[in-house]
Amino acid sequence: MRTINVGLLGCGTVGSGVVKLFQEHPDLLDRRVGAKLRIRKVAVRSAPRVPVDAKLLTKEAMEVVRDPQIDIIVELIGGTDVAKALCLEAVANGKHLVTANKALLAEHGLEIYRAAAEKRVDLGFEASVCGAIPIIRSVKEGLVANRILSIMGIVNGTTNYILTKMTESSQAFASVLAEAQAKGYAEADPTLDVGGGDAAHKLQILASLAYGGYIRFSDIYIEGIQKIEAVDIAFARELGYRIKLLAIAKQEQGELEVRVHPTMIPEAHLLASVGGVYNAVHIRGDSCGSLMFSGRGAGQMPTASSVVADIVEIAHNIVFHRPSHASLLPTSAVGSEITLRPMERITSGYYLRVMAMDKPGVLSKVSGVLGEHNISIASMIQKGRDEAAAVPIVMLTHQAVEGDMRRALQKINALDVIAQETMCIRVEGVED
Ligand code: HSE
Repeated sequence: MRTINVGLLGCGTVGSGVVKLFQEHPDLLDRRVGAKLRIRKVAVRSAPRVPVDAKLLTKEAMEVVRDPQIDIIVELIGGTDVAKALCLEAVANGKHLVTANKALLAEHGLEIYRAAAEKRVDLGFEASVCGAIPIIRSVKEGLVANRILSIMGIVNGTTNYILTKMTESSQAFASVLAEAQAKGYAEADPTLDVGGGDAAHKLQILASLAYGGYIRFSDIYIEGIQKIEAVDIAFARELGYRIKLLAIAKQEQGELEVRVHPTMIPEAHLLASVGGVYNAVHIRGDSCGSLMFSGRGAGQMPTASSVVADIVEIAHNIVFHRPSHASLLPTSAVGSEITLRPMERITSGYYLRVMAMDKPGVLSKVSGVLGEHNISIASMIQKGRDEAAAVPIVMLTHQAVEGDMRRALQKINALDVIAQETMCIRVEGVED
């Protein structure tokens, strides 16, 4: 039996999980690969969190990616500068590469995909999107016969936890975030999660694969959940909806929309029931219909499960002399870059919470502005009466064009009867 050697870069949370998997079922992995799969080197800056044979440890990551004995490099150090240099050097040295680094692929993927294609090496990145959920393989292989009509995903566990808690406890965003940080569910600096950047990284990778081209990360519209108030969650519930941070990609009249923002979805939608830190991706294909994948999107062993799946697949390719990069490289993304439909031209339903003085004629002013901008109201609630203060007027609209909505909101917010900026949340999933 031949031996396939793996070099691990980083042995933090996920790296330790990978080591544990190798230690826990070596025979199982060897049988599945058809070779002896061994971790040959582990590059670390500090002591690993699991027992690792001291002979394998090194501080010199560059030496690991250049080691002629190593077949597969597994990059788990994160970040985009050092990680990129190491990944490109590994590929230049003919190593197959596995990475869980979504930021690296989303922001510099084209360079890495092209380098891997040129050197004819495999690139595995299942762990970069939704942890344990085999969504990359499903899109690349299981759904390959489909034209993908839409992808809607809850791809960030931190924000899903926060929104679920806000829904269950009626607490404000800031207090739930503080609680999540205390429990270790949210980072000390939560910006990437709550601001939607992490979800956008994952969407860039998934949508580039699904739609057969490279999507520039900077073209993705990103809006986080920081402005969502407990009152909006309560109104959404009353109207039969839930608020989720959704990563959305859909093909509309030959154009692709790719966006991340808080979204109201009907409570009967499959995604509405995915709570806590769980992730889920809902895909509509022209042949397969609607499918939903759900599971743990982060954490040590769920993410390690996907990393090791990539290692095993690449090792299997080596053993059976399959041409490298035949199965794991996102060949579609190596091709052309995709121009996205500008956000101004997308259409969506909208939830509006207008904070208005409760005076005669207010409603006709607001609905007049909406009407002038081709926006039709589907339903409305006004709660309470307070002649001295602003009261919320909540509306759901029919499908409207984003540009019309933005212009209408500017006019509504400028009315003298409006006390604060109008809350606007897009509504999706009604047709699913
Ligand atoms: N911070 C991410 C999340 C996990 O909350 O889902 C890693 O992408």
